[in-house]
Amino acid sequence: MGSKKEQLLRGLKNRDETVRMIKWMVKVVTPYTRFVGYVFMISVVSMLISYAGVIIGKHVVDDATTGTVNLRNMIIMCSATIVSIGVGIGSSILGSYIGEKFSFTIRQQFYNDIQRSVWLKASAFHSGDLVTRLTSDIGALADGLITVLPRTVLTGVQLSVAFFILFHYDRPIALFALVIGPVGAVCMLLFRNRYKKYQTALRECESDYRSFMQESLSTLTVVKTFRQEDANEARMDGLRRRRLKLVLQNTTLGSVMGAVIRLVYSAGYVIAFCWGAYRISRGDITYGTLTVFITLVSQVQGSISGLAGIIPQGYNMLISAKRIMEVVELPKETYGGRTDVPERVGLRVEDVSFSYGEEPVLNDLSFAVAPGEKVALIGPSGVGKTTVIRLLLALVEPQEGSICYTTDGGEEPVSPDVRRFISYVPQGNTLVSGSIADNLRVGKQDATREEMTRVLRLAAADRFVEKLPDGLDTVLSEKSGGISEGQAQRIAIARALIGDKPVIILDEATSALDEGTEAAILKNITEELRDKTCFIITHRRSMLRYCGKVLELGENGSVKE
Ligand SMILES: Nc1ncnc2c1ncn2[C@@H]1O[C@H](COP(=O)(O)OP(=O)(O)OP(=O)(O)O)[C@@H](O)[C@H]1O
Ligand SMILES: [Mg+2]
Repeated sequence: MGSKKEQLLRGLKNRDETVRMIKWMVKVVTPYTRFVGYVFMISVVSMLISYAGVIIGKHVVDDATTGTVNLRNMIIMCSATIVSIGVGIGSSILGSYIGEKFSFTIRQQFYNDIQRSVWLKASAFHSGDLVTRLTSDIGALADGLITVLPRTVLTGVQLSVAFFILFHYDRPIALFALVIGPVGAVCMLLFRNRYKKYQTALRECESDYRSFMQESLSTLTVVKTFRQEDANEARMDGLRRRRLKLVLQNTTLGSVMGAVIRLVYSAGYVIAFCWGAYRISRGDITYGTLTVFITLVSQVQGSISGLAGIIPQGYNMLISAKRIMEVVELPKETYGGRTDVPERVGLRVEDVSFSYGEEPVLNDLSFAVAPGEKVALIGPSGVGKTTVIRLLLALVEPQEGSICYTTDGGEEPVSPDVRRFISYVPQGNTLVSGSIADNLRVGKQDATREEMTRVLRLAAADRFVEKLPDGLDTVLSEKSGGISEGQAQRIAIARALIGDKPVIILDEATSALDEGTEAAILKNITEELRDKTCFIITHRRSMLRYCGKVLELGENGSVKE
Protein backbone atom coordinates (compact mmCIF):
# COMPACT_ATOMS: atom_id res chain seq x y z
CA MET A 1 0.00 0.00 0.00
CA GLY A 2 2.76 2.33 1.05
CA SER A 3 4.53 2.05 -2.25
CA LYS A 4 1.28 2.67 -4.14
CA LYS A 5 0.76 5.86 -2.19
CA GLU A 6 4.35 6.85 -2.87
CA GLN A 7 3.86 6.19 -6.55
CA LEU A 8 0.73 8.29 -6.56
CA LEU A 9 2.51 11.14 -4.77
CA ARG A 10 5.43 10.91 -7.17
CA GLY A 11 3.02 10.94 -10.08
CA LEU A 12 1.32 14.05 -8.72
CA LYS A 13 4.66 15.75 -8.14
CA ASN A 14 5.74 14.89 -11.67
CA ARG A 15 2.53 16.27 -13.03
CA ASP A 16 2.97 19.48 -11.04
CA GLU A 17 6.47 19.76 -12.38
CA THR A 18 5.34 19.17 -15.96
CA VAL A 19 2.61 21.80 -15.62
CA ARG A 20 5.15 24.25 -14.21
CA MET A 21 7.52 23.44 -17.05
CA ILE A 22 4.87 23.94 -19.70
CA LYS A 23 3.86 27.25 -18.13
CA TRP A 24 7.47 28.33 -18.18
CA MET A 25 7.92 27.31 -21.81
CA VAL A 26 4.77 29.19 -22.79
CA LYS A 27 6.19 32.26 -21.06
CA VAL A 28 9.48 31.88 -22.91
CA VAL A 29 7.90 31.41 -26.30
CA THR A 30 5.19 34.09 -25.90
CA PRO A 31 7.25 36.97 -27.32
CA TYR A 32 7.80 34.87 -30.43
CA THR A 33 4.23 33.71 -31.01
CA ARG A 34 3.82 36.20 -33.85
CA PHE A 35 6.82 34.81 -35.75
CA VAL A 36 5.93 31.21 -35.01
CA GLY A 37 2.44 32.08 -36.24
CA TYR A 38 3.88 33.35 -39.54
CA VAL A 39 5.84 30.14 -40.07
CA PHE A 40 2.76 28.17 -39.22
CA MET A 41 0.52 30.15 -41.55
CA ILE A 42 2.96 29.90 -44.44
CA SER A 43 3.14 26.15 -43.92
CA VAL A 44 -0.65 25.87 -43.85
CA VAL A 45 -0.88 27.87 -47.10
CA SER A 46 1.73 25.64 -48.72
CA MET A 47 -0.18 22.57 -47.55
CA LEU A 48 -3.52 23.86 -48.85
CA ILE A 49 -1.99 24.67 -52.21
CA SER A 50 -0.63 21.15 -52.48
CA TYR A 51 -4.03 19.67 -51.54
CA ALA A 52 -5.68 21.83 -54.20
CA GLY A 53 -3.16 20.31 -56.61
CA VAL A 54 -4.28 16.85 -55.53
CA ILE A 55 -7.94 17.60 -56.19
CA ILE A 56 -7.20 19.17 -59.56
CA GLY A 57 -5.11 16.06 -60.32
CA LYS A 58 -8.21 13.95 -59.81
CA HIS A 59 -10.01 15.90 -62.52
CA VAL A 60 -7.03 15.62 -64.86
CA VAL A 61 -7.05 11.81 -64.44
CA ASP A 62 -10.83 11.54 -64.74
CA ASP A 63 -10.81 13.69 -67.90
CA ALA A 64 -8.02 11.53 -69.32
CA THR A 65 -10.00 8.32 -68.74
CA THR A 66 -12.85 9.80 -70.80
CA GLY A 67 -10.40 10.69 -73.57
CA THR A 68 -10.02 14.48 -72.98
CA VAL A 69 -6.82 16.28 -72.15
CA ASN A 70 -7.49 19.23 -69.85
CA LEU A 71 -4.47 21.47 -70.43
CA ARG A 72 -5.72 24.27 -68.17
CA ASN A 73 -5.98 21.97 -65.16
CA MET A 74 -2.55 20.52 -65.91
CA ILE A 75 -1.01 24.01 -65.91
CA ILE A 76 -2.79 24.90 -62.66
CA MET A 77 -1.48 21.69 -61.12
CA CYS A 78 2.13 22.46 -62.14
CA SER A 79 1.83 26.03 -60.86
CA ALA A 80 0.41 24.84 -57.55
CA THR A 81 3.40 22.55 -57.10
CA ILE A 82 5.87 25.32 -57.89
CA VAL A 83 4.16 27.84 -55.59
CA SER A 84 3.99 25.27 -52.80
CA ILE A 85 7.74 24.61 -53.10
CA GLY A 86 8.47 28.35 -53.11
CA VAL A 87 6.36 28.92 -50.02
CA GLY A 88 8.15 25.98 -48.37
CA ILE A 89 11.52 27.67 -48.95
CA GLY A 90 10.23 30.91 -47.44
CA SER A 91 8.95 29.08 -44.41
CA SER A 92 12.23 27.30 -43.77
CA ILE A 93 14.24 30.55 -44.06
CA LEU A 94 11.89 32.33 -41.67
CA GLY A 95 12.02 29.30 -39.36
CA SER A 96 15.79 29.34 -39.14
CA TYR A 97 15.83 33.11 -38.60
CA ILE A 98 13.43 32.75 -35.68
CA GLY A 99 15.34 29.73 -34.35
CA GLU A 100 18.60 31.68 -34.24
CA LYS A 101 17.07 34.75 -32.69
CA PHE A 102 15.17 32.72 -30.18
CA SER A 103 18.03 30.48 -29.03
CA PHE A 104 20.33 33.47 -28.77
CA THR A 105 17.81 35.35 -26.65
CA ILE A 106 17.18 32.50 -24.21
CA ARG A 107 20.90 31.82 -23.99
CA GLN A 108 21.40 35.43 -23.01
CA GLN A 109 18.54 35.24 -20.52
CA PHE A 110 19.94 32.07 -19.01
CA TYR A 111 23.39 33.61 -18.72
CA ASN A 112 21.92 36.66 -16.98
CA ASP A 113 19.96 34.41 -14.66
CA ILE A 114 23.10 32.53 -13.60
CA GLN A 115 24.93 35.79 -13.00
CA ARG A 116 22.12 37.15 -10.87
CA SER A 117 21.49 34.02 -8.83
CA VAL A 118 22.40 33.76 -5.18
CA TRP A 119 26.11 32.95 -5.13
CA LEU A 120 25.96 29.88 -2.89
CA LYS A 121 23.31 28.18 -5.05
CA ALA A 122 24.90 29.00 -8.39
CA SER A 123 28.37 27.99 -7.25
CA ALA A 124 27.06 24.51 -6.38
CA PHE A 125 26.96 23.73 -10.14
CA HIS A 126 30.09 22.75 -12.01
CA SER A 127 30.94 25.38 -14.60
CA GLY A 128 31.19 22.63 -17.27
CA ASP A 129 27.67 21.54 -16.40
CA LEU A 130 26.40 25.09 -16.67
CA VAL A 131 28.10 25.52 -20.04
CA THR A 132 26.46 22.29 -21.28
CA ARG A 133 23.08 23.58 -20.18
CA LEU A 134 23.84 26.94 -21.76
CA THR A 135 24.74 25.39 -25.13
CA SER A 136 23.32 21.89 -25.81
CA ASP A 137 20.21 22.16 -23.69
CA ILE A 138 19.24 25.59 -24.89
CA GLY A 139 19.83 24.43 -28.47
CA ALA A 140 17.46 21.49 -27.95
CA LEU A 141 14.87 23.69 -26.29
CA ALA A 142 14.94 26.34 -29.00
CA ASP A 143 14.81 23.70 -31.71
CA GLY A 144 11.92 22.06 -29.96
CA LEU A 145 9.87 25.17 -29.38
CA ILE A 146 10.39 26.46 -32.88
CA THR A 147 9.94 23.21 -34.79
CA VAL A 148 8.21 20.61 -32.64
CA LEU A 149 5.20 22.60 -31.56
CA PRO A 150 4.32 24.15 -34.94
CA ARG A 151 5.03 20.90 -36.77
CA THR A 152 2.86 18.88 -34.42
CA VAL A 153 -0.02 21.31 -34.84
CA LEU A 154 0.59 21.42 -38.58
CA THR A 155 0.54 17.63 -38.82
CA GLY A 156 -2.73 17.66 -36.90
CA VAL A 157 -4.20 20.19 -39.34
CA GLN A 158 -2.86 18.22 -42.30
CA LEU A 159 -4.37 15.00 -41.00
CA SER A 160 -7.73 16.65 -40.43
CA VAL A 161 -7.83 18.20 -43.90
CA ALA A 162 -6.80 14.90 -45.46
CA PHE A 163 -9.48 13.18 -43.42
CA PHE A 164 -12.22 15.50 -44.66
CA ILE A 165 -11.15 15.13 -48.30
CA LEU A 166 -11.09 11.35 -47.94
CA PHE A 167 -14.44 11.46 -46.16
CA HIS A 168 -15.88 13.43 -49.05
CA TYR A 169 -14.81 10.82 -51.61
CA ASP A 170 -15.07 7.57 -49.64
CA ARG A 171 -16.39 7.24 -46.09
CA PRO A 172 -15.12 3.76 -45.15
CA ILE A 173 -11.52 4.61 -46.05
CA ALA A 174 -11.71 7.87 -44.10
CA LEU A 175 -13.02 6.06 -41.02
CA PHE A 176 -10.27 3.50 -41.37
CA ALA A 177 -7.71 6.32 -41.45
CA LEU A 178 -9.31 7.72 -38.29
CA VAL A 179 -8.73 4.44 -36.47
CA ILE A 180 -5.03 4.17 -37.30
CA GLY A 181 -4.48 7.91 -36.75
CA PRO A 182 -3.68 7.80 -32.99
CA VAL A 183 -1.10 5.00 -33.37
CA GLY A 184 1.71 7.54 -33.05
CA ALA A 185 0.37 8.83 -29.75
CA VAL A 186 -0.12 5.32 -28.34
CA CYS A 187 3.39 4.34 -29.35
CA MET A 188 4.77 7.44 -27.68
CA LEU A 189 2.97 6.61 -24.43
CA LEU A 190 4.31 3.05 -24.45
CA PHE A 191 7.93 4.09 -24.77
CA ARG A 192 7.70 7.30 -22.78
CA ASN A 193 9.37 6.36 -19.52
CA ARG A 194 12.27 4.51 -20.99
CA TYR A 195 12.98 7.28 -23.45
CA LYS A 196 12.92 9.88 -20.71
CA LYS A 197 15.34 7.83 -18.61
CA TYR A 198 17.84 7.40 -21.46
CA GLN A 199 17.67 11.03 -22.46
CA THR A 200 18.20 12.31 -18.90
CA ALA A 201 21.17 9.97 -18.45
CA LEU A 202 22.58 11.15 -21.76
CA ARG A 203 22.42 14.80 -20.76
CA GLU A 204 24.05 14.11 -17.41
CA CYS A 205 26.77 12.16 -19.16
CA GLU A 206 27.36 15.05 -21.52
CA SER A 207 27.71 17.43 -18.59
CA ASP A 208 30.21 15.12 -16.88
CA TYR A 209 32.16 14.80 -20.11
CA ARG A 210 32.39 18.53 -20.62
CA SER A 211 33.13 19.32 -16.97
CA PHE A 212 35.94 16.80 -16.89
CA MET A 213 37.41 17.99 -20.17
CA GLN A 214 37.23 21.64 -19.19
CA GLU A 215 38.75 21.07 -15.78
CA SER A 216 41.58 18.80 -16.87
CA LEU A 217 42.55 21.14 -19.69
CA SER A 218 42.64 24.09 -17.34
CA THR A 219 44.87 22.29 -14.83
CA LEU A 220 47.56 21.01 -17.20
CA THR A 221 50.30 21.57 -14.62
CA VAL A 222 48.59 19.17 -12.22
CA VAL A 223 47.99 16.69 -15.03
CA LYS A 224 51.62 16.69 -16.06
CA THR A 225 53.33 16.79 -12.69
CA PHE A 226 51.12 14.05 -11.27
CA ARG A 227 51.53 12.03 -14.48
CA GLN A 228 47.77 11.96 -14.90
CA GLU A 229 47.81 11.71 -18.71
CA ASP A 230 47.05 7.99 -18.85
CA ALA A 231 44.50 8.14 -16.05
CA ASN A 232 42.75 11.07 -17.73
CA GLU A 233 42.72 9.33 -21.09
CA ALA A 234 41.21 6.27 -19.45
CA ARG A 235 38.59 8.41 -17.75
CA MET A 236 37.75 10.19 -20.99
CA ASP A 237 37.50 6.81 -22.64
CA GLY A 238 35.14 5.58 -19.92
CA LEU A 239 32.95 8.65 -20.34
CA ARG A 240 33.04 8.25 -24.11
CA ARG A 241 31.94 4.62 -23.81
CA ARG A 242 29.14 5.51 -21.43
CA ARG A 243 28.00 8.18 -23.82
CA LEU A 244 28.22 5.86 -26.82
CA LYS A 245 26.16 3.24 -25.04
CA LEU A 246 23.49 5.78 -24.14
CA VAL A 247 23.46 7.27 -27.63
CA LEU A 248 23.00 3.80 -29.13
CA GLN A 249 20.24 2.94 -26.67
CA ASN A 250 18.55 6.22 -27.51
CA THR A 251 18.86 5.80 -31.24
CA THR A 252 17.63 2.21 -31.08
CA LEU A 253 14.62 3.20 -29.05
CA GLY A 254 13.90 6.17 -31.35
CA SER A 255 14.24 3.96 -34.43
CA VAL A 256 12.00 1.24 -32.97
CA MET A 257 9.42 3.86 -32.10
CA GLY A 258 9.63 5.34 -35.60
CA ALA A 259 9.57 1.90 -37.24
CA VAL A 260 6.44 0.80 -35.37
CA ILE A 261 4.65 3.98 -36.36
CA ARG A 262 5.77 3.66 -39.97
CA LEU A 263 4.87 -0.02 -40.11
CA VAL A 264 1.32 0.66 -39.04
CA TYR A 265 0.94 3.46 -41.55
CA SER A 266 2.51 1.46 -44.37
CA ALA A 267 0.00 -1.27 -43.68
CA GLY A 268 -2.63 1.46 -43.84
CA TYR A 269 -1.30 2.53 -47.23
CA VAL A 270 -1.47 -1.02 -48.62
CA ILE A 271 -4.97 -1.50 -47.27
CA ALA A 272 -6.11 1.84 -48.74
CA PHE A 273 -4.58 0.88 -52.07
CA CYS A 274 -6.28 -2.56 -52.13
CA TRP A 275 -9.56 -1.06 -50.98
CA GLY A 276 -9.35 1.49 -53.79
CA ALA A 277 -8.63 -1.22 -56.37
CA TYR A 278 -11.59 -3.23 -55.07
CA ARG A 279 -13.89 -0.18 -55.32
CA ILE A 280 -12.73 0.54 -58.89
CA SER A 281 -13.37 -3.06 -59.88
CA ARG A 282 -16.94 -2.65 -58.64
CA GLY A 283 -17.23 0.66 -60.43
CA ASP A 284 -17.87 2.58 -57.15
CA ILE A 285 -15.09 5.14 -57.65
CA THR A 286 -13.19 6.63 -60.57
CA TYR A 287 -9.46 6.36 -61.29
CA GLY A 288 -9.22 10.00 -60.33
CA THR A 289 -10.58 9.26 -56.85
CA LEU A 290 -8.05 6.44 -56.47
CA THR A 291 -5.30 8.94 -57.33
CA VAL A 292 -6.62 11.23 -54.61
CA PHE A 293 -6.49 8.32 -52.12
CA ILE A 294 -2.99 7.35 -52.98
CA THR A 295 -1.62 10.86 -53.08
CA LEU A 296 -3.30 11.83 -49.83
CA VAL A 297 -2.28 8.67 -48.04
CA SER A 298 1.33 9.06 -49.11
CA GLN A 299 1.34 12.74 -48.13
CA VAL A 300 -0.15 11.96 -44.77
CA GLN A 301 2.37 9.18 -44.41
CA GLY A 302 5.15 11.66 -45.04
CA SER A 303 3.98 13.88 -42.22
CA ILE A 304 3.41 10.89 -39.95
CA SER A 305 7.01 9.82 -40.54
CA GLY A 306 7.99 13.35 -39.67
CA LEU A 307 5.91 13.06 -36.51
CA ALA A 308 7.79 9.88 -35.59
CA GLY A 309 10.94 12.00 -35.63
CA ILE A 310 9.26 14.84 -33.79
CA ILE A 311 8.27 12.73 -30.79
CA PRO A 312 11.84 12.05 -29.60
CA GLN A 313 12.68 15.66 -30.35
CA GLY A 314 9.75 16.72 -28.20
CA TYR A 315 11.06 14.64 -25.33
CA ASN A 316 14.52 16.11 -25.72
CA MET A 317 12.92 19.49 -25.50
CA LEU A 318 11.13 18.67 -22.26
CA ILE A 319 14.25 17.21 -20.66
CA SER A 320 16.33 20.20 -21.68
CA ALA A 321 13.64 22.53 -20.43
CA LYS A 322 13.79 20.84 -17.05
CA ARG A 323 17.56 21.18 -16.87
CA ILE A 324 17.39 24.82 -17.85
CA MET A 325 14.63 25.52 -15.37
CA GLU A 326 16.68 24.05 -12.53
CA VAL A 327 19.11 26.90 -13.02
CA VAL A 328 16.72 29.64 -14.09
CA GLU A 329 14.65 29.09 -10.97
CA LEU A 330 17.53 29.51 -8.52
CA PRO A 331 16.75 32.29 -6.06
CA LYS A 332 17.94 35.64 -7.33
CA GLU A 333 19.78 38.44 -5.63
CA THR A 334 18.05 41.75 -5.70
CA TYR A 335 19.76 45.10 -5.71
CA GLY A 336 17.99 48.03 -4.18
CA GLY A 337 19.47 50.30 -6.81
CA ARG A 338 21.55 52.48 -4.49
CA THR A 339 24.58 54.05 -6.13
CA ASP A 340 25.73 56.61 -3.56
CA VAL A 341 29.17 55.79 -2.23
CA PRO A 342 29.72 57.04 1.35
CA GLU A 343 33.14 58.40 2.24
CA ARG A 344 33.67 56.64 5.53
CA VAL A 345 32.23 53.29 6.49
CA GLY A 346 32.25 51.34 9.76
CA LEU A 347 30.75 47.97 10.60
CA ARG A 348 28.83 46.22 13.36
CA VAL A 349 28.48 42.45 13.46
CA GLU A 350 26.15 41.15 16.19
CA ASP A 351 25.69 37.53 17.32
CA VAL A 352 26.13 36.13 13.83
CA SER A 353 25.91 32.38 13.36
CA PHE A 354 26.38 30.70 10.03
CA SER A 355 26.68 27.22 8.55
CA TYR A 356 26.83 25.97 4.96
CA GLY A 357 25.16 22.70 5.95
CA GLU A 358 24.78 20.90 9.27
CA GLU A 359 28.15 21.88 10.76
CA PRO A 360 28.21 25.41 12.21
CA VAL A 361 31.10 27.47 10.83
CA LEU A 362 30.56 30.68 12.79
CA ASN A 363 28.97 30.88 16.23
CA ASP A 364 27.67 34.04 17.88
CA LEU A 365 30.24 36.18 16.14
CA SER A 366 30.25 39.82 17.31
CA PHE A 367 32.66 42.66 16.61
CA ALA A 368 32.63 46.29 15.58
CA VAL A 369 34.91 48.23 13.28
CA ALA A 370 35.26 52.01 13.22
CA PRO A 371 35.54 53.90 9.91
CA GLY A 372 39.13 53.95 8.69
CA GLU A 373 40.20 51.14 11.00
CA LYS A 374 42.61 48.52 9.66
CA VAL A 375 41.50 45.09 10.87
CA ALA A 376 43.46 41.87 10.62
CA LEU A 377 41.43 38.68 10.50
CA ILE A 378 43.51 35.70 11.52
CA GLY A 379 43.00 32.10 12.48
CA PRO A 380 43.92 28.62 11.31
CA SER A 381 43.05 27.38 7.83
CA GLY A 382 39.41 26.36 7.43
CA VAL A 383 38.26 28.27 10.51
CA GLY A 384 35.92 30.56 8.57
CA LYS A 385 37.81 33.73 7.62
CA THR A 386 36.68 33.71 4.00
CA THR A 387 33.18 32.90 5.23
CA VAL A 388 33.16 36.10 7.33
CA ILE A 389 34.12 38.04 4.21
CA ARG A 390 31.31 36.36 2.23
CA LEU A 391 28.90 37.49 4.92
CA LEU A 392 30.23 41.05 4.73
CA LEU A 393 29.77 41.02 0.96
CA ALA A 394 26.25 39.54 1.21
CA LEU A 395 27.34 36.53 -0.83
CA VAL A 396 25.84 34.38 1.93
CA GLU A 397 23.26 35.25 4.57
CA PRO A 398 23.67 34.58 8.28
CA GLN A 399 21.20 32.17 9.84
CA GLU A 400 21.20 34.28 12.99
CA GLY A 401 22.37 37.72 14.03
CA SER A 402 22.81 40.92 12.08
CA ILE A 403 25.43 42.76 10.09
CA CYS A 404 25.15 46.48 9.70
CA TYR A 405 27.40 49.06 8.05
CA THR A 406 27.59 52.51 9.57
CA THR A 407 27.96 55.28 7.02
CA ASP A 408 27.80 59.08 7.03
CA GLY A 409 24.18 58.77 5.98
CA GLY A 410 23.24 56.44 8.87
CA GLU A 411 23.12 52.68 9.23
CA GLU A 412 22.79 50.29 6.33
CA PRO A 413 22.04 46.63 6.92
CA VAL A 414 24.07 44.25 4.80
CA SER A 415 22.60 43.52 1.34
CA PRO A 416 24.05 43.07 -2.16
CA ASP A 417 23.87 46.88 -2.41
CA VAL A 418 26.80 47.27 0.01
CA ARG A 419 29.12 45.93 -2.71
CA ARG A 420 29.02 49.38 -4.28
CA PHE A 421 31.35 50.64 -1.57
CA ILE A 422 33.58 47.57 -1.11
CA SER A 423 36.68 46.56 -3.02
CA TYR A 424 37.59 42.93 -2.67
CA VAL A 425 40.65 40.89 -3.52
CA PRO A 426 39.47 37.29 -3.41
CA GLN A 427 41.63 34.43 -2.29
CA GLY A 428 43.34 32.68 -5.22
CA ASN A 429 43.99 33.75 -8.76
CA THR A 430 41.11 35.78 -10.12
CA LEU A 431 42.57 37.83 -12.97
CA VAL A 432 40.80 37.57 -16.31
CA SER A 433 42.42 37.05 -19.68
CA GLY A 434 43.20 40.32 -21.46
CA SER A 435 45.73 43.07 -20.86
CA ILE A 436 46.79 44.36 -17.45
CA ALA A 437 44.89 47.57 -18.24
CA ASP A 438 41.76 45.50 -19.05
CA ASN A 439 42.05 43.87 -15.66
CA LEU A 440 42.34 47.22 -13.91
CA ARG A 441 39.27 48.47 -15.79
CA VAL A 442 37.26 45.73 -14.08
CA GLY A 443 37.74 47.85 -10.95
CA LYS A 444 36.94 51.12 -12.71
CA GLN A 445 35.61 51.15 -16.23
CA ASP A 446 36.87 54.57 -17.24
CA ALA A 447 40.18 54.49 -15.33
CA THR A 448 42.87 56.73 -16.79
CA ARG A 449 46.52 55.73 -17.28
CA GLU A 450 47.50 58.01 -14.37
CA GLU A 451 45.05 56.29 -12.05
CA MET A 452 46.37 52.92 -13.16
CA THR A 453 49.97 53.94 -12.50
CA ARG A 454 49.03 55.26 -9.06
CA VAL A 455 47.34 52.06 -7.89
CA LEU A 456 50.08 49.91 -9.37
CA ARG A 457 52.53 51.90 -7.25
CA LEU A 458 50.38 51.39 -4.12
CA ALA A 459 50.30 47.66 -4.87
CA ALA A 460 54.09 47.59 -5.43
CA ALA A 461 53.50 46.47 -9.00
CA ASP A 462 54.63 49.60 -10.86
CA ARG A 463 58.23 48.57 -11.33
CA PHE A 464 57.63 45.16 -12.77
CA VAL A 465 54.83 46.40 -15.06
CA GLU A 466 57.13 49.17 -16.36
CA LYS A 467 59.74 46.57 -17.20
CA LEU A 468 57.34 44.47 -19.29
CA PRO A 469 57.86 45.17 -23.02
CA ASP A 470 54.21 46.19 -23.47
CA GLY A 471 53.78 47.69 -19.99
CA LEU A 472 50.13 48.15 -19.09
CA ASP A 473 49.10 46.63 -22.41
CA THR A 474 50.82 43.31 -21.69
CA VAL A 475 48.30 40.62 -22.49
CA LEU A 476 47.77 37.94 -19.85
CA SER A 477 46.47 34.58 -20.97
CA GLU A 478 44.02 32.43 -19.00
CA LYS A 479 44.75 32.34 -15.25
CA SER A 480 47.24 35.20 -15.60
CA GLY A 481 49.60 33.13 -17.71
CA GLY A 482 52.78 35.06 -18.51
CA ILE A 483 53.40 36.63 -15.09
CA SER A 484 54.26 35.18 -11.70
CA GLU A 485 51.74 34.35 -8.98
CA GLY A 486 52.94 37.20 -6.76
CA GLN A 487 52.82 39.63 -9.68
CA ALA A 488 49.25 38.51 -10.41
CA GLN A 489 48.36 39.10 -6.76
CA ARG A 490 49.73 42.62 -6.91
CA ILE A 491 47.68 43.40 -10.03
CA ALA A 492 44.61 42.01 -8.26
CA ILE A 493 45.29 44.41 -5.36
CA ALA A 494 45.70 47.31 -7.79
CA ARG A 495 42.40 46.31 -9.42
CA ALA A 496 40.68 46.58 -6.03
CA LEU A 497 42.30 49.90 -5.12
CA ILE A 498 41.50 51.67 -8.39
CA GLY A 499 37.79 51.94 -7.55
CA ASP A 500 38.69 54.18 -4.57
CA LYS A 501 36.02 52.52 -2.41
CA PRO A 502 35.83 53.23 1.33
CA VAL A 503 36.12 49.54 2.30
CA ILE A 504 38.94 47.27 1.13
CA ILE A 505 39.03 43.54 1.79
CA LEU A 506 42.18 41.56 1.14
CA ASP A 507 41.68 37.79 1.51
CA GLU A 508 45.21 36.39 1.69
CA ALA A 509 45.91 38.76 -1.16
CA THR A 510 49.63 38.85 -0.39
CA SER A 511 50.21 35.17 0.34
CA ALA A 512 52.56 34.68 -2.62
CA LEU A 513 54.67 37.75 -1.82
CA ASP A 514 57.95 38.01 0.05
CA GLU A 515 57.75 39.76 3.42
CA GLY A 516 59.37 42.94 2.13
CA THR A 517 56.91 43.44 -0.71
CA GLU A 518 53.95 42.52 1.49
CA ALA A 519 55.08 45.03 4.10
CA ALA A 520 55.54 47.72 1.45
CA ILE A 521 51.96 47.24 0.21
CA LEU A 522 50.46 47.26 3.71
CA LYS A 523 52.50 50.34 4.58
CA ASN A 524 51.19 52.12 1.46
CA ILE A 525 47.64 51.19 2.32
CA THR A 526 47.83 52.24 5.97
CA GLU A 527 49.67 55.48 5.29
CA GLU A 528 48.10 56.65 2.05
CA LEU A 529 44.60 55.29 2.44
CA ARG A 530 43.97 56.41 6.01
CA ASP A 531 40.23 56.89 5.59
CA LYS A 532 39.63 53.47 4.11
CA THR A 533 38.37 50.69 6.32
CA CYS A 534 40.45 47.58 5.59
CA PHE A 535 40.02 43.91 6.37
CA ILE A 536 43.24 42.02 5.92
CA ILE A 537 43.29 38.25 6.15
CA THR A 538 46.79 36.99 6.60
CA HIS A 539 48.64 34.04 8.06
CA ARG A 540 51.73 36.19 8.69
CA ARG A 541 51.94 37.53 12.25
CA SER A 542 54.61 40.08 11.29
CA MET A 543 51.98 41.96 9.29
CA LEU A 544 49.77 42.55 12.29
CA ARG A 545 51.70 45.67 13.29
CA TYR A 546 50.08 47.49 10.36
CA CYS A 547 46.62 46.78 11.73
CA GLY A 548 44.85 48.71 14.48
CA LYS A 549 42.75 45.73 15.46
CA VAL A 550 43.29 41.97 15.31
CA LEU A 551 40.36 39.56 15.26
CA GLU A 552 41.31 35.97 15.85
CA LEU A 553 38.78 33.35 14.83
CA GLY A 554 38.82 30.24 17.02
CA GLU A 555 38.04 26.63 16.13
CA ASN A 556 34.64 26.76 17.82
CA GLY A 557 33.52 29.64 15.62
CA SER A 558 34.26 32.27 18.28
CA VAL A 559 36.23 35.48 17.90
CA LYS A 560 38.87 37.07 20.12
CA GLU A 561 39.97 40.70 19.80
N1 LIG B 1 30.87 26.70 -0.45
C1 LIG B 1 31.00 25.97 0.67
N2 LIG B 1 30.11 24.99 0.92
C2 LIG B 1 30.21 24.26 2.04
N3 LIG B 1 31.16 24.41 2.98
C3 LIG B 1 32.07 25.37 2.79
C4 LIG B 1 32.03 26.20 1.63
N4 LIG B 1 33.06 27.06 1.71
C5 LIG B 1 33.71 26.79 2.86
N5 LIG B 1 33.12 25.78 3.52
C6 LIG B 1 33.53 25.24 4.84
O1 LIG B 1 33.48 26.28 5.77
C7 LIG B 1 34.59 26.27 6.63
C8 LIG B 1 35.30 27.61 6.63
O2 LIG B 1 35.82 27.84 5.34
P1 LIG B 1 36.58 29.18 4.96
O3 LIG B 1 36.86 29.15 3.53
O4 LIG B 1 35.79 30.31 5.48
O5 LIG B 1 37.92 29.02 5.80
P2 LIG B 1 39.18 29.99 5.88
O6 LIG B 1 39.36 30.36 7.30
O7 LIG B 1 39.06 31.07 4.92
O8 LIG B 1 40.35 29.00 5.47
P3 LIG B 1 41.72 29.31 4.67
O9 LIG B 1 42.65 29.99 5.60
O10 LIG B 1 42.21 27.96 4.35
O11 LIG B 1 41.36 30.10 3.49
C9 LIG B 1 35.46 25.12 6.16
O12 LIG B 1 35.29 24.05 7.06
C10 LIG B 1 34.95 24.76 4.81
O13 LIG B 1 35.00 23.38 4.61
MG1 LIG C 1 40.00 31.52 3.12
